[in-house]
Amino acid sequence: MSIPFTTTVRGVDVPTIGYGTWEVTGDDAVEGVADALAAGYRHIDTAAAYGNEAEVGRGIARSGVSRDDFWLTTKVWQEDYAPDALRSSTERSLTSLGVEHIDLLLLHWPVGGDAAMIDALGALRDLRSAGTIRELGVCNTPASMLGRLVDAVPELFADQVEYHAHLGQDPLLAEARKREVMVTAYSPLANGKGLIDAEPLREVAAQRDATPAQVVIAWLARQQGVSVLPRSTNPDRRRENLAALEVDLTTDDVAALDALSLTGKRYIDPPFAPDWTD
Ligand code: A2P
Repeated sequence: MSIPFTTTVRGVDVPTIGYGTWEVTGDDAVEGVADALAAGYRHIDTAAAYGNEAEVGRGIARSGVSRDDFWLTTKVWQEDYAPDALRSSTERSLTSLGVEHIDLLLLHWPVGGDAAMIDALGALRDLRSAGTIRELGVCNTPASMLGRLVDAVPELFADQVEYHAHLGQDPLLAEARKREVMVTAYSPLANGKGLIDAEPLREVAAQRDATPAQVVIAWLARQQGVSVLPRSTNPDRRRENLAALEVDLTTDDVAALDALSLTGKRYIDPPFAPDWTD
């Protein structure tokens, strides 16, 4: 069964595979975004902290793709969670990106405790009511904390986390499905750190006439309520990653990747990261 082009959560259709732009800067960001849209990506992910929103905006403009035809996510950095600072950050993002609205605005890390997060989510909810953003959410938020935040702010729509075949996310997925929250997988290729050379990926890839990167992306993209953000500075690999939507995995393939994901290797774990077991 092929993977749907969009993942649908609460009746909202989000293109399943998005183009991630972390650590992509300068001309690489401009050209990467323009080329990703030309290649058929309809979902672009950036963040204030990536320092590339202006370049992402230039790439969008260069592509000629209409604003209504793609999904755009950006993020607020943790120093800007106080409501006034959050509104200013959003204005800067809109100006840099050259757009009038953002589809999904996320809090980049869960810092400051539940109360500070709930205040910031409240400010996002006001931006949603004003039509500046369509949906709101968090990143890097473990299962129990996600449940508490959704209890306080039911509009919370998405949680973007590190998720790949070296790092399963079963408790988070269970909570997210119960709450109808989209889970977005960042670093789906484990940040280029050896996952795609692992067996059994190469074996599955050879059997499905696909590449190991496509197998990992397909394993994520086939999951209900999950969207995926591979990034590549290489035009051919960008197209290869989007074409993962056409890879059909068997039940045995999925079981092999499920087993591999028990490896539990987390590659993005800064000092301000939350207690991942929360
Ligand atoms: P490059 O930009 O040279 O293509 P992640 O999305 O998990 O953060 O991984 C990004 C890393 O994976 C980058 O180093 C990128 O390198 C590499 N990459 C992206 N797509 C592919 C692919 N299809 N095959 C191999 N490596 C890839």
